[in-house]
Amino acid sequence: MESQKLLLARAYEKEGGEKIDPSARPRFHLSPYLGWMNDPNGFSYYKGEYHLFYQYNPYSTVWDSMHWGHAVSPDLLHWTYLPAALAPDQPYDSFGCFSGSAIDLADGRQLLLYTGVRKEEGGERQTQCVAVGDGLNYRKCAQNPVIDGPALPAGLSRSSFRDPKVWREPDGSLRCVVGGCGGDGLGRILLFSSPDGFRWAFESILAENGGRLGRMWECPDFFPLDGKHVLLVSPQDMLPEGLEYHNGNGTVCMIGRYDEAKKRFYPEKDQAIDCGIDFYAPQTVLTPDGRRVMIGWMQNWDTCAPTRDEARPWFGQMSLPRELSVQNGRLYQRPLRELEDHRSGRVEHRDAAFEGELTLPGVEGRTVDLELTIRPQDGGAPCRRFTLRFAQDGRRHTALSFRPHESVLEIDRSFSGSRRACVHQRRCLVPSRDGTLKLRVILDRFSAEVFVNDGEQVLTAAITTDEAAKGISFAADGPVRMDVTKYDLFAEG
Ligand code: FRU
Repeated sequence: MESQKLLLARAYEKEGGEKIDPSARPRFHLSPYLGWMNDPNGFSYYKGEYHLFYQYNPYSTVWDSMHWGHAVSPDLLHWTYLPAALAPDQPYDSFGCFSGSAIDLADGRQLLLYTGVRKEEGGERQTQCVAVGDGLNYRKCAQNPVIDGPALPAGLSRSSFRDPKVWREPDGSLRCVVGGCGGDGLGRILLFSSPDGFRWAFESILAENGGRLGRMWECPDFFPLDGKHVLLVSPQDMLPEGLEYHNGNGTVCMIGRYDEAKKRFYPEKDQAIDCGIDFYAPQTVLTPDGRRVMIGWMQNWDTCAPTRDEARPWFGQMSLPRELSVQNGRLYQRPLRELEDHRSGRVEHRDAAFEGELTLPGVEGRTVDLELTIRPQDGGAPCRRFTLRFAQDGRRHTALSFRPHESVLEIDRSFSGSRRACVHQRRCLVPSRDGTLKLRVILDRFSAEVFVNDGEQVLTAAITTDEAAKGISFAADGPVRMDVTKYDLFAEG
């Protein structure tokens, strides 16, 4: 039976989505066709294209009635909207089709594994469900839900059990990790296996939250990378730990060892995935040439309500696709290398020596790839504070400031034009290295992603500053030398 709810959503999004001028959206970051977007879902490569689904409410720019929006891309940088893929139209998902993932089946179809949420007496019930389709239309399966409460070990919550991430093992069988929660209110990552995507069995508690990293763990992803195993989670209710983690919803990468006999992951190190303001619920895909690429929701629950621009018919963006690697026990992220094919108008200033304030000819814009290295002048002491401002006009700017003596890098959008008192600053510790710092800053109209020291850390922030503010400037309270290379991105039209 055709779903009326899905047909309605598809008609509604088409009418409103087509009216949005592409110049009012980010240039190469995915935004929702219409309405509200949160987590990336079903990030996959299927039939020669990348598919990216997303948590979606086409009807307004606030979270409600979770559908799955859908877009495809040949290269992860040019996106084409497809009609919404899932609507909450069944008794088992009537409160929403929550986050999940996708995998191709042996028969050529694509399987979506998602969390169906329903309300029942005593609260919410979350189960894992499947829909199968051809890359455009998906049919929910009669045997849903495919993973339900009875499959869970005793004591685990049936109302906090969500966000399955599926992958294929070398023997062809499937596995998935799902976020769960113990009676102590703390996150568990549950591992399930399946011969075919439809029949699932509980395997193990892959990892558990000892209480240090927030409470519930949402949106897990688990994969081998550079000789290690990596577990990504998005914990709720984090506490700060020095400058590594911040209060509220955060993102954590654990790097460690996986024991296949015990089906257990032993983290050795953990770190924030993104140290900025707006990043959550990332998901990865393995590209055909073997790269592990991650995209996250370029917002965060704690900051999204106050930063909504009421005049805009869409809310939420995805981050850049980021190539992941593990080096020296740390997760590194680099912008997808194909972004470099869309750079033009190179402006280069080498060895610019200055103290005080500086603007450089040709260095401005809001869809920009900026590479910057600073160092003290001629063996002298580092300055106390170096500041890069962007999205700047006479009244507004967003700033990145580096204080070498404290090894602190801070992003601050207090002056970006926001009239709300929400989080506008975040800091992280960057090894000082004698006052030398290397940054790559990617601006795409309504966002900034800052890759520090070749991707050792990343700070991301969404901004709503209108595009007229396109200045970029530099300030240092002591003598510094700078190499700056700036490109326009996607200037071809
Ligand atoms: C994370 C999350 C997921 C859930 C989805 C609902 O941002 O809370 O755990 O599946 O959003 O939209």
